[in-house]
Amino acid sequence: MTAETSDAAPVTTGAGPLPPEFFTAPEAGATHAANAKLRASGCPVHAINYPPGGDAYVVADYETALKSFSDPRLSKQVDNAPAWFRDLLKDSSPVLIRNMITADPPEHTRLRRLVSRAFVPRRMALLRPRIQEITDELIDAFPESGEVDLMEFAFSLPMRVICEFLGVPIADRPDLHAWGHWLSGAPFADEESNRKLKWASDSVERYLVDLLEERRRSGLGDDLVSILLKAADEEDVFTNDELVSTLVLLIIAGHKTTANLIGNGMQALFAQPDQLELLRARPELAESAVEEFLRFEPPVYRGTLRVATQDMELAGCPIPKEGFVHILMDSANRDPQAFEDPDRLDITRGSNRHLAFGQGAHFCVGAPLSRVEGQVAFPTLLRRLPGLALTVPHDQLEWVFDNSTSRGLKSLPVRYDARLAAHEPEN
Ligand code: HEM
Repeated sequence: MTAETSDAAPVTTGAGPLPPEFFTAPEAGATHAANAKLRASGCPVHAINYPPGGDAYVVADYETALKSFSDPRLSKQVDNAPAWFRDLLKDSSPVLIRNMITADPPEHTRLRRLVSRAFVPRRMALLRPRIQEITDELIDAFPESGEVDLMEFAFSLPMRVICEFLGVPIADRPDLHAWGHWLSGAPFADEESNRKLKWASDSVERYLVDLLEERRRSGLGDDLVSILLKAADEEDVFTNDELVSTLVLLIIAGHKTTANLIGNGMQALFAQPDQLELLRARPELAESAVEEFLRFEPPVYRGTLRVATQDMELAGCPIPKEGFVHILMDSANRDPQAFEDPDRLDITRGSNRHLAFGQGAHFCVGAPLSRVEGQVAFPTLLRRLPGLALTVPHDQLEWVFDNSTSRGLKSLPVRYDARLAAHEPEN
């Protein structure tokens, strides 16, 4: 094995597998440097030792990533994974594997149809005023001037929105957050973490079974839980287990990802103050800015479970049956073959065909919701908090590595000169 390493990030560009630490470079910048080496190495598909013990591969370039998302030989179904992995997941987190993200057609089509109808852009646009209100309420609770951890805001906003949309009590947010933390990393390589995962899986399942019972008793409303419950009970679209698993997916996917969109986007702006000032001066750029944040520092940096159903090749690289394939969206999004000057944050970038929400049949259901949340959050923060700046040097920001496909910050300490009222124009 020829291992080419640097202080910044572990990279193997030879024949041997990348170590699992490839996914845990000390900060996002180092990851991008490592990805660039992979893309430049002549073959965009590399073996990686992750999960440890499995035949696994990363896809680093845009073209192969795009094809892989829709390659019918790559299955999302846990039953196609090696037996040891399948058993580990079924034992530790059964609540996770009965929803659309671990299904292939035709089950995938059935499990997704109803949910995706609820998230269409038209419906999400109607939520915009409420998302603005929640954003303003959260900022109203900041001190008049001083310091806050913006990651607390970043987590609170999507959690409040998804709880309201689903009709889940916001008071239960700390439990949902804690369970989501363990569930989003499933499965782990060590027993202790898998025990915690099992606890989270059992707890969230009990919680949601009770919630559904309560909703059945007290009468259905127009929240998403009620809509899905009605479909399950009257139209026989879902089993109860599938419904619980779908709700778990929506809660996990619905908050941490968007929290990282806000955190990753703000840190990118702090690193490039000209772009921060541009967005402050021209809030109408919020739409293209959000797409650029998604491209530049994607909240979900690699695809979820994909396994080869047969011996196959990807970009000339042989992948054995049951091999895991990790699509690196953070790398594809910076591929110079697909994006001009990809390492530059440009919030005015047009026709931004980034892969941050995936592609094809599993394209993110919640994309229209998180787009609206981002389009509200960034300009509101910049307008209401003049002088917004980091309180620590940018290179001291700490990134979270928690075995999940997300990448975001542990905290984002900021200060500001004043907190303007929600409707007070800045002069
Ligand atoms: C910025 C925020 C978000 C990002 C970056 C993101 C990213 C992704 C990605 C990359 C996938 C595809 C995974 C794959 O094919 O391997 C996905 C799927 C999914 N996302 Fe999101 N997501 C975000 C927000 C949300 C929200 C707010 C929700 C729901 C409330 C949501 C629900 C889902 C669901 C249900 C799927 C599975 C779709 C399927 O398998 O057919 N996501 N997301």
